Amino acid sequence: MPVERILARSRGDDGDGGTDLKRTLRARDMVGFGVGIIIGTGIFTLAGVEAKQHAGPAVTLSFLIGAVVAALAAVCYAELASSIPTAGSAYTYAFATMGELVAWIIGWDLLLEFGLGLAVVSRSWSGYLAELLGLPTAWFGEDATINIGAVVIIALLTAVAVSGIRESSRLTNLLVLLKLAVCVLILVVGAFFVNPANLSPFVPPAQPPEGGGSVFTQPVISGVFGLEPTVFGIGGMLTAAAVVFFAYTGFEALANMGEEVRRPRRDLPIGLLGALAVCALLYVGVSLVLTAMVPYTEIDEGAPLAAAFTGVGLPWIGGLIGIGAVVGLTSVMMVELVTIGRIGYAMGRDGLLPEKIGTAHPRWGTPHRMTIIGGVVCAMIAAVTPITALADMVSIGALSAMIIVAVAVPVLRRTRPDLQRAFKVPFSPVVPAITAVACLYLMLNLNLDTWIRFVGWLVLGLIVYVGYGRRHSFLARDDADRSDSPS
Ligand code: ALA
Repeated sequence: MPVERILARSRGDDGDGGTDLKRTLRARDMVGFGVGIIIGTGIFTLAGVEAKQHAGPAVTLSFLIGAVVAALAAVCYAELASSIPTAGSAYTYAFATMGELVAWIIGWDLLLEFGLGLAVVSRSWSGYLAELLGLPTAWFGEDATINIGAVVIIALLTAVAVSGIRESSRLTNLLVLLKLAVCVLILVVGAFFVNPANLSPFVPPAQPPEGGGSVFTQPVISGVFGLEPTVFGIGGMLTAAAVVFFAYTGFEALANMGEEVRRPRRDLPIGLLGALAVCALLYVGVSLVLTAMVPYTEIDEGAPLAAAFTGVGLPWIGGLIGIGAVVGLTSVMMVELVTIGRIGYAMGRDGLLPEKIGTAHPRWGTPHRMTIIGGVVCAMIAAVTPITALADMVSIGALSAMIIVAVAVPVLRRTRPDLQRAFKVPFSPVVPAITAVACLYLMLNLNLDTWIRFVGWLVLGLIVYVGYGRRHSFLARDDADRSDSPS
């Protein structure tokens, strides 16, 4: 679809009604939203788990690698978001550059990323709440047959997200401040308890795979080929980098808000890169403090950060971290829900999903139908599916969308050199090419089960596209109109 058509549709100039979302957000809100969605389970739980299982203190480097890949992807997102500022982000960019089918695949993929992200974080939230308030883990923990906590929090947040973007933004900004305060507390207080001996060796020696074999035969790309995951050494650090990439997922949500920011061409790039920079600094700092406080072999996998402080005789700090986790995870879920609504809105407006999904509520100005559908489906998944089965799916969904975004940058430059670009990726096409390869490399480090589930989701998406979207989309209707009209 031509870029002008996409922008005209979002402005309502083409007679289709256009956007009915409200332009109320500023750059500051965007950074708040970004930090709100990015910092969550990744640092509160995965940092400790990956240090213990795969990387040792080198998990800090895993977070750095993740930051570099996420930043590369963010600059690609920023160029496209600043030239095509509409709801739908990667989905819309793919539409403008690679056509309807690729756009559909990406939209479907983003729904997977944000939907399952919401499910993971709601279960993690439920677990922290149980620990904090002493609630029964049979209803709130990972062992629950039906995780009540996850269902209740998704239901409450769905109600907030439907009631208005401004309200969502206010709540998110408040939660983000509390979450940042807890991260700074960890850094400042933790600095007094670091033991440099715990950081040595920084990259623990690689261990032979279970069942024997030599360290030298261990694959660096372990996951997709169904081989034993690499434990420690450089390979372990890279495996951990693929897993902790989850911690950065979500920043792309900002690119969905092109129709709700006041000055999209300026505020979108600031929001994307600013939020990512804040998170990367905190992740590297917090993971370094954690592994310097506790020998990596003794890290608690359930609540690593809280346990580290309890372990040095500061249980009240551990309690505060528990509160920070509950609060922090709430803001992640809030933004994820908002994003699911926006992606569905864009896809509905283009006719790829039922058109009613692509209209906003007349009074609240939010894509209420998709938000409610997303909330209900995610609550059902979160009720019964363990975190471990879901988390890697989020990373694979995000990384695959990032590859398409990276490819879209040079494609759009070639097809539409005239388009106004408030922000440009330096050294294109080299930087977009490096971005795509880096994302693919991290994807290959995820395990075979994740790949099988991912391909299954894409096949389901193609079935929906062939059965519905292809025939109902605006492009299909345009073609039908043209063939009906007498020439
Ligand atoms: N990046 C988000 C988190 O770590 C999804 O929870």
